[in-house]
Order: sequence, then structure tokens, then C-alpha cells
Amino acid sequence: MKVAVFGLGYVGSVTAACLAANGHDVWGVDVDTAKVGPITEGHSPVVEPGLDELVADGVAAGRLHATTDPRLALERADVSLICVGTPSTAAGSTDLTYIRRAVRDIAEAAHVAEPPESGFHSIVVRSTVPPGTVDDVVAQVLADVPAADGFTFGTAMCPEFLREGSGLADFYDPPFVVVGTRNAKVGTALTDLFGFLGVDVQVVDVRTAEALKYACNAFHATKVSFANEMGRIFRYYGVDSREVMRIFVQDTSLNISPYYLRPGFAFGGSCLPKDLRSVLHLARVNDTDLPLLAGTLATNELTVRDVVDRVVAGPGREIALLGLSFKHATDDLRESPSVELAERLIGKGYNLRIYDAIVNPSRLVGANLRHVTSKLPHLQRVLTDDPIAALAGADLAIVSATDTAAVHALLTTPPARTIDLSGRLGDAVEALPGYEGVGW
Ligand SMILES: NC(=O)c1ccc[n+]([C@@H]2O[C@H](COP(=O)([O-])OP(=O)(O)OC[C@H]3O[C@@H](n4cnc5c(N)ncnc54)[C@H](O)[C@@H]3O)[C@@H](O)[C@H]2O)c1
Repeated sequence: MKVAVFGLGYVGSVTAACLAANGHDVWGVDVDTAKVGPITEGHSPVVEPGLDELVADGVAAGRLHATTDPRLALERADVSLICVGTPSTAAGSTDLTYIRRAVRDIAEAAHVAEPPESGFHSIVVRSTVPPGTVDDVVAQVLADVPAADGFTFGTAMCPEFLREGSGLADFYDPPFVVVGTRNAKVGTALTDLFGFLGVDVQVVDVRTAEALKYACNAFHATKVSFANEMGRIFRYYGVDSREVMRIFVQDTSLNISPYYLRPGFAFGGSCLPKDLRSVLHLARVNDTDLPLLAGTLATNELTVRDVVDRVVAGPGREIALLGLSFKHATDDLRESPSVELAERLIGKGYNLRIYDAIVNPSRLVGANLRHVTSKLPHLQRVLTDDPIAALAGADLAIVSATDTAAVHALLTTPPARTIDLSGRLGDAVEALPGYEGVGW
């Protein structure tokens, strides 16, 4: 394929050289001659192990070119990959000036360049951009430039996951190749372009692809800070946290795994809140701060408050709460966020009927019973083991239960509004009128 790469910094120069090494005809474009010059002379414009050799090979083979002229790059090109910078503004927002400029350069160059034989050209953002950039910003720039004869554009987001210093190795071995587009032709073009990687190309919604890169980087940053907070607190207790974390990462079922990484409702139960409070107390007595861990308690509280606010903002006073324990298949109600939610809603004067498949007030004992008695003294009166009975006359259902009886009841007796806390209710429930996911 003929590929134009806009922006020849770390991402663009690695991308251009690797695609050229795999047989594509690549034209790199940069507004900065300090990037273009070295490539035309067969050198890498950035310091990246192995890149100098790859650029030299690509240029010698006649498959890698660099220019400041977008027209030369666009001439008969099938794909443009936009790899320009997206720096932070002083306020922390993403500066999309270079994205706009590159898209405009492409659209204007199409007026003077020969179109590809197919007449179709994919404009693909590889820079990291906020959700909505391709749909709103890129589309707006394309709408502002009059259409060019012979060129039809399709757009996509295809985030890049390489790290500086291991850019080539990461390019050839990405964790995934994700293309966000609603244009099937762009999906096919990128599947062909990256076919040599031997990785399945996942075609998803544009905004999913845009958000994914932020999710990855936010998670990586969180991991670093989590490990550092472990070190900061446990060193006061003579603990070598390198040893703790060496063993910690060996747990690939709960620690380093998909577990606990589904958006949904707040955490709770008899251990997580209690032990988190203990660690935060250790920090306080040592006059140190663990803002990441303190923040997890704060964000957990916001998750509950958000649901209360959404209920209050809507109509109706009759609520069916389907699911009470903090997770599936337990009757432990200690620090269950659903108990907390029920308590707040009852406190605000809502009428609740609560269904839980397992919780039976007459069988609760010990700390579990004490917790429920203090939080929900009238549980016996409002609890039922029949979800249809809970839903009868309800204006709103708040659902964390995912058992078949709960799903069946929602489908046969749908309330006007459903707030889904688990995201596991299935397509049929999600298609009900008045369905809302708690975070989707
Ligand atoms: N650096 C990384 O490790 C990395 C990894 C993954 C994703 N990203 C993302 O990729 C994007 C690029 O990052 P980078 O580190 O390669 O940036 P960079 O600053 O090294 O390079 C960007 C290049 O774009 C050029 N440019 C600006 N406007 C242009 C235009 N209209 N036409 C052509 N060239 C233009 C600049 O002159 C510059 O050379 C950013 O959004 C970044 O967040 C970076």
C-alpha cells in the first residue's frame, strides 16, 4: 500500500520505518525540516534503538521517503496515518491544533494530488486524542474543505501503544491492534496494512478506540503510583516492598488479571473497605499521605452518591432494589454498597422493595446481623425472594442481581426506568425502554 505518515516524531518515524521494512511504500511528512532532513539522508530523526538502521534500509530500498510537501505524500496514497503531537494546554486539555492542521493538509493536498486507483483514502489518527475527536474535530475540518475530485475519505482512530526506548519491539509486538471506525473500507484497509503483525485487528466504535489509549495510560500511571504508595507506607514497618510486590504479581487470578476491572457499582464487603482504612490509618500515624488509596475510598463513595443523585433527579417514589449483598452468591451484607444505597434512599423517603435470591433476614447471624439491624432495621418487612413482587408497581428498578429470576422478572414486568449496576443483565434487558447503565 502507499502510506502517508504525518508527523515524524517518535511514533511517526518508527511507524514509517517499520511499515517500509514490511514492503509498504511510505512517505513521511513533517512541517519540521529537522525531522525530514535526517530521513532523506538515511538517518533516524529521533533516538530510538535500531531505528537508524531501519531508516537507512528503507531509504536505500526506495520504500521510505520524507518530505515537507503533503501533496507528494498524498499522491495515489491509500492511507494517511496522523502521528502528530497532541500536547497538554496550560489548563490540561488536549491541544488538537496539530491534528486539525494535518487533516486540513490532507484535505487540501487531495485537490492537487492524483487519487489512489480505488478513489478511497483512509485518514487514520494514531495520536492520542480524547473521545469525539475523530467524529467532531476531524469530521469538521473535512467538512470545511471543499471535496476533491476522485478522493473519498473514510476516517478512523487506531491508537499506538509503543514505548520510547523499545519502540521497534513494541511496534512489532503490540498488545492489540484496535481500529475505531464505522467505515468498513477503512477497517479492511487497516487489516491489510497491519496484516504482517499477525495480530487480529479488532474493529470497534471510534470513541472506544480513542478512550482505550487513555484507559491504558491512566492504568499504567496508577500502577506505578500504587507500587510507590506500598513502598511509602510499609518502609515505616521495616518491610521491603520490592519483595512484597515481587510476590504480589505472582497472583494472576486476582491481582494481575481481568478481575476487578469491570466498570460497575462500588466495592464493599467485609474486607476491602476495612483493610483499606487500616492502611490509611498506618499512613496517618506515620504522618504520611497515600492520596491514591485515599482517593479510592472517595471515588467509591461517589459511585454510591451518583446513583442516589440519579434517582433523585428522576420521577417516582416506588423503587425495586434487585440484589442486596455486595457480590453474587453470598449473604454477607457487611459494608454492602447496596445496603448503603438502600439506607440513603429510605432516608430520603423512597419506598423500597428489595429482592435478593440468597439473603434471608431470619438466617442472618453475628456481625452480619448487627450490620443489617443498624443500617436497615426494617429489612424483614421490605425484603422478598420474588423479584416480580419487588417490581410490582415500581417506577424504577436498581439492579445488581444477575440471576435468571431477576432477568426474567425485568423482561416480564419492566419498570419505566432501570438502572443497571452490574452490566451483566444481557442484551434483552439493555434493549428495554428506560434502561440506563451505571457507567455506560
Ligand atoms: N512518544 C510515545 O511513546 C507515544 C506512544 C504512543 C502514542 N503517542 C502519541 O502519539 C502522538 C505523537 O507522539 P510523538 O511522541 O511521536 O510526538 P513528537 O512530538 O515526537 O512528534 C510529533 C511530530 O509532529 C510534527 N507535526 C506537527 N504538525 C504537523 C503537521 N501538520 N504535519 C506534519 N507533521 C506535523 C511535529 O513537527 C513533530 O515532529 C501523540 O499524540 C502522543 O501522545 C506517543
